[in-house]
Amino acid sequence: MESPFKADVVKGKVALITGGGSGIGFEISTQFGKHGASIAIMGRRKQVLDSAVSALRSLGIQAVGFEGDVRKHEDAKRVVESTFQHFGRLDILVNGAAGNFLVSAEDLSPNGFRTVMDIDAVGTFTMCYEALKYLKKGGPGRSSSGGGTILNISATLHYTASWYQVHVAAAKAAIDATTRNLALEWGADYDIRVNGIAPGPIDDTPGMSKLAPSEINSKSRDYMPLYKLGDKWDIAMAALYLASDAGKFINGTVIIADGGLWLSRPRHLPKDAVKQLSRSVEKRSRDAPVGVPRSKL
Ligand code: HXC
Repeated sequence: MESPFKADVVKGKVALITGGGSGIGFEISTQFGKHGASIAIMGRRKQVLDSAVSALRSLGIQAVGFEGDVRKHEDAKRVVESTFQHFGRLDILVNGAAGNFLVSAEDLSPNGFRTVMDIDAVGTFTMCYEALKYLKKGGPGRSSSGGGTILNISATLHYTASWYQVHVAAAKAAIDATTRNLALEWGADYDIRVNGIAPGPIDDTPGMSKLAPSEINSKSRDYMPLYKLGDKWDIAMAALYLASDAGKFINGTVIIADGGLWLSRPRHLPKDAVKQLSRSVEKRSRDAPVGVPRSKL
């Protein structure tokens, strides 16, 4: 799909994207690269990193991959420093690395809960912590006037409650809280904008294949009036908006990119029926003698 943004909206910027070798992270890497940024991707699997980097380079994008696990503080530090050493600056950090599996709360061990918290919530903070030095205004490779920006990828699971996702919902809630708190502190002190994106179900991603295996897809859609799948492109465009100057006044926001799904409720009455029913209820209450209780109408 063609981008509505100019091809140079992030020209000259350097972006480090955790989980940038696959799924939504790879699409963000690709779109940032196509719009002028140099890309460093961090991931645990060398093969995935290598093929992502070659794909980016084949598009003419300057790209490099660094193996690392966001759960390991030393990996986070090394990858942030390597990105700076490789490109001479760091402007955009995207925290996309995440872990997930479907499990009922009673079958989830505390270590399973902790594993997802460690990847999503602690990993996001650790990357932000290590990147601060390079993102703050006046930091290495930066002018004294402009800070960089951070994008944290979360979800909508924790807005209400989600079946078999207690660990992930808790982790994504922590990510959104981190986004807002860092936006406050680092926006004020260092001119760093910190925002988030909460994707809904996105086609062709590990999240979709883990959370909505094809066996249950069509059934669950019946209960979700606003259910549609988004594309990875939709998330990458939201990321471009937030990371580019188009979003220069946006700080501490989490953009929900889910087609409205989280608002979805089953329709309890067809639209035509509501018109008739509502009129007749009104008429009944207008015509009712004064003093008759509503329950008797
Ligand atoms: C119950 C499970 C489990 C499962 C793992 N565990 N899988 N428990 N059901 N299906 C438990 C293990 O038993 C163990 O606890 C603990 O979790 C750690 O498991 P490990 O396999 O040792 O962990 P690790 O090898 O580090 O793998 C982490 C992982 C894995 C999260 C479990 O799935 C992973 O690496 N995923 C990364 C890729 C990924 O998931 N991407 C999808 C992101 S989708 P015990 O007690 O036995 O030691 C996404 C979408 C968000 O984020 C929502 C969108 C709507």
